Amino acid sequence: MSITEVDFARAVELIRAGELVAFPTETVYGLGADAANPAAVAKIFAAKGRPADHPLIVHIAGHDAVDHWAEQVPAVAWELMETFWPGPLTLILKKQSWVPDAVTGGQDTVGLRVPGHPVALELLRAFAAVAGEHAGIAAPSANRFGRISPTTAEHVREELGERVPLILDGGPCKVGIESTIVDCSRGEPVVLRPGHIAPAHLEAVIGRRPRIETADGAPRVSGSLAAHYAPQTPMRLVSSERLLDFINAQRHKGDRCGVISTGQPPQAGMPHAWRMLPADPVGYAHDLYAALRDMDHAGVDLIAVEALPDDPAWAAVADRLRRAVAGAGQA
Ligand code: TXA
Ligand code: MG
Repeated sequence: MSITEVDFARAVELIRAGELVAFPTETVYGLGADAANPAAVAKIFAAKGRPADHPLIVHIAGHDAVDHWAEQVPAVAWELMETFWPGPLTLILKKQSWVPDAVTGGQDTVGLRVPGHPVALELLRAFAAVAGEHAGIAAPSANRFGRISPTTAEHVREELGERVPLILDGGPCKVGIESTIVDCSRGEPVVLRPGHIAPAHLEAVIGRRPRIETADGAPRVSGSLAAHYAPQTPMRLVSSERLLDFINAQRHKGDRCGVISTGQPPQAGMPHAWRMLPADPVGYAHDLYAALRDMDHAGVDLIAVEALPDDPAWAAVADRLRRAVAGAGQA
């Protein structure tokens, strides 16, 4: 669909009125509310079923809004913004004292991002035109808590349905996994969530390899919970070498097995469902969440995911897969 068909006027009207609007970004779809309105932000938590102490990312239209939301912004943060915004990078910064606790989960920091999607940017600009030039839209991924992030408008409908009055359709998300989160609030930059922008890209800007701190179970970043991004069907990571044996064993047990792999399905002993993903990390990330959703709908008892190469280039998708496996089948 073309962008001109998106009803920005209605979206802005709803957000101004304290309602929710789902919108596309280049990473995943977001569930947005006026970030300066705590009652509106509370509706996000209610719709997602998300614990209220999990902080949200504030989406802004450009660098000019940063000082409105954050203070003591270090030089390295400005350099990262210059290089990667608009784009799939969220920066954690010391917040201005006025920023509502509803957004920050009561912390003294705020997550900021300028998304690299024309619909998101146009929405942010249109909102800022009526709500003030620094206005921001708080938005987590538009899925129910712990579940797979949506990468199409249809996925959002599936996740939230009537809980969201308007879903802007901007087509499938380009990146497909959530933004890289870099904490710039405590001196040296620390990666809290891996993403499309990899440590090597960050290193090129900050001059050294950033520390990575994606501890399982850390509550500060809900996406870093050990179980997250999860399908309802149980899931297993299986090495390439063991995949065929594994499929056969499932068949002998009478279980319907779905497979996500970068290879072709075997000629014989075909499992119940097979989804082939691109053999490069960018293409894989783009298709991963849709593939997990497909498998949830395929009527299989178990999803076998072929283990990924142990290589830094695959770190972000490997991170999402690990957490999906940990949370799968628990819904
Ligand atoms: O790509 C993305 O980042 C997407 C799109 C919609 O922008 N959003 C997203 O939001 O993934 P969400 O809420 O699902 O994940 C945002 C993560 C959470 O894990 C949250 O804990 C972390 O960002 N976060 C937000 N503010 C933070 C803060 N002040 N300190 C530490 N982590 C923060
Ligand atoms: Mg999320």
